[in-house]
Amino acid sequence: MDDERPPARPAALGDASSSPGDGTDAGAGVGAVADGGAVADGGVGSLLTRVVAACRPPAPFEPSEAPFWDDPYIARHLLAAHLDETSPAASRPGAELDRAVAHLAARGLAGPGVRVLDLGCGPGLVATRLARLGCRVTGVDLSERSLDHARRAALAEGREIEYRRADFRELADVGRFDLVLQSYGELSTFAPDVRDDLLARVRRALAPGGAFVFDASRPRLHPPTGRGWDVSPGGFWRPGPHVVLEECFVTPVDAGTQLACHQYVVVDAGTGGAGPGGDADAAGCVTTYRMWFHDHTPASLTAVLEAAGFAVDEMWDSLAGDPLTDDGEWLAVLARPR
Ligand SMILES: C[S@@+](CC[C@H](N)C(=O)[O-])C[C@H]1O[C@@H](n2cnc3c(N)ncnc32)[C@H](O)[C@@H]1O
Repeated sequence: MDDERPPARPAALGDASSSPGDGTDAGAGVGAVADGGAVADGGVGSLLTRVVAACRPPAPFEPSEAPFWDDPYIARHLLAAHLDETSPAASRPGAELDRAVAHLAARGLAGPGVRVLDLGCGPGLVATRLARLGCRVTGVDLSERSLDHARRAALAEGREIEYRRADFRELADVGRFDLVLQSYGELSTFAPDVRDDLLARVRRALAPGGAFVFDASRPRLHPPTGRGWDVSPGGFWRPGPHVVLEECFVTPVDAGTQLACHQYVVVDAGTGGAGPGGDADAAGCVTTYRMWFHDHTPASLTAVLEAAGFAVDEMWDSLAGDPLTDDGEWLAVLARPR
């Protein structure tokens, strides 16, 4: 049931239990099912037409058709992925988070009494570590399931952490935080207008002298990995039998940046599981999920931040402070309002 892998944060298709395929025809695998006669009834033609339509390249930042982070069924598996030390799907390994928090402390950005806002805190893996240093932490996340875990972890350690269920795109705090933190690339996932609005909100939420620290994906994180598929009796995406058709679309944008989309077309019997969303009829349900990344270079991200009223203090290859190189997969940034 739980053997199906979640979409990994970086390079999902490289990890999938998928057929190498010839990478040329989205409809080929599905057609083979119908040709075999196993599901050849009156509705299959319509199902195949919808699957083929769903597998088209997406428009830039075209959204998923159904919730992902806060879907009650998928969230259960996402929480497991967050807590799985061997999976990079939702969070980094604990040792890496330890290094990141130690780096923040060494830079004087975290420590006793420092007011920290963790945007997209998930199950509180970073927030808990910051609270152990004496920071006064507020965590915001969409996922009630992750927040529930985070609250119980704080209680178990006797730590006071404020956890809020909210969409951080609606952040409305003013002048409250010494450090706003966003870890594991969430800023990269938004279209420029949404990203710039979020940057303005972060700027407003910072107290005078405050800092914004986050990491963002670089083009090397998303090589074009083509197509893959998975069949499951029940797993990450759905409780019952389903097929997942995955494709990674990578498009150059400008200034050395690129748009990467990991698209997952999930085909199931339409009898429950994740929803709402998807295109369902008696033959089955087709739901498309898209994970977008605007992969930046140090120069392009600096330009974005400056346009949003920030000055970049430092950049690293990771939140743990690994020195900036030309060929990193990530870019970690310390920026302050100008
Ligand atoms: C990749 S995970 C990273 C979690 C955590 N920062 C870490 O490093 O362990 C992204 C998190 O952001 C949350 N998230 C995504 N979009 C969000 C939004 N618009 N508002 C609030 N939380 C969001 C997800 O629920 C998820 O917990």
